Amino acid sequence: LRVMVVFGGRSGEHQISCSTAAGVLEHIDREIFDVIPVGVTPDGRWLRVPDDPDLYRLEGDTGATIEPGPQQLTLVAGDGAAFEFDALAIGEISARDIGMIDVMLPLLHGPFGEDGTLQGMLEMSDFRYVGCGVTSSAVCMAKHMTKALLAGRGLPVGQWKFISPREWVENREGVLEQCEALGLPLFVKPSRAGSSLGITKVESFAQLGAAIDAARQHDPRVIVEAMASGREIECAVLAGRNGSEPRVAPLGEIVLPANDGFYDYRTKYVGNDANLVCPAPLPENAVARIQECAIDAFETLECEGLARVDFFYDDQTGQIIINEVNTMPGLTPFSLFPLMWSKAGLSYRDMITELITMALE
Ligand code: DAL
Ligand code: MG
Repeated sequence: LRVMVVFGGRSGEHQISCSTAAGVLEHIDREIFDVIPVGVTPDGRWLRVPDDPDLYRLEGDTGATIEPGPQQLTLVAGDGAAFEFDALAIGEISARDIGMIDVMLPLLHGPFGEDGTLQGMLEMSDFRYVGCGVTSSAVCMAKHMTKALLAGRGLPVGQWKFISPREWVENREGVLEQCEALGLPLFVKPSRAGSSLGITKVESFAQLGAAIDAARQHDPRVIVEAMASGREIECAVLAGRNGSEPRVAPLGEIVLPANDGFYDYRTKYVGNDANLVCPAPLPENAVARIQECAIDAFETLECEGLARVDFFYDDQTGQIIINEVNTMPGLTPFSLFPLMWSKAGLSYRDMITELITMALE
């Protein structure tokens, strides 16, 4: 089977996507799949790139960036070394290869990849691809839409306020006042972004306006959330298209070094100081409730293939809150998703095989 593995992309999570690709290129079963790696530059050019996981790893403070020259691709690796390759534009890939490709593995995180735009293009072209479809990708990328739909289903999403671009421009003071009702601390987030980009934890109301402006750099739509106290628990879900019940892996937990921080971009991918624990030490009934909740969220949002549902769990009250749903969870060496499935007895390699098989069902 010929699999086009697509990564990089136009979002702020470009380098994370490259790191995800490093994981997939390393583990994908070469006896079953012929891999065609395609890198998408930050400005959206699709390029045929080398099939070498080592080029795409995130190392130190930087990751790989897919960068084209006029006729060639320059790839800047984590250590700053540059590699140059002949590159083909997507049109040329289309003429030469696309007709022969059986399935695409879109390993893109964030806008223009994880948000339904690419999925729409693939549906239009009758192209098989791994993962969620147009609607679920679009909805899960927009945090306020995810929350509204999950709350409508009666699932716990905590307290939040959505700030539309017009509201902020016309009624800044009023919006700030309404947010105060959520208490402190607050999390201010761009509605559409990933890997914690543009997120600020606000400890005093004096910081709130600046935090909203910062989030607006990533998306003019912003949500402000009441701080959900508790432990960060993640649930990995896999499901075919045949309507059978989605499967969940043992739960994972992110244990942060200091309890005043949050799981920000640096901690996620650079600092390496967050501790990923799987299975998360939780009471049995909490595990069952979180897993049921994850399956319900997955189905409510019409997810397909895979998703990772992120929770907060409060030890004192037993309360569960769904934080967000990721339709293309990170598959990097610092990511919980592959680790959680390995604890379920499904190796990284077999997980990728299943994902691709399910896409072809
Ligand atoms: N958005 C990142 C890749 C994640 O959720 O894992
Ligand atoms: Mg995310």
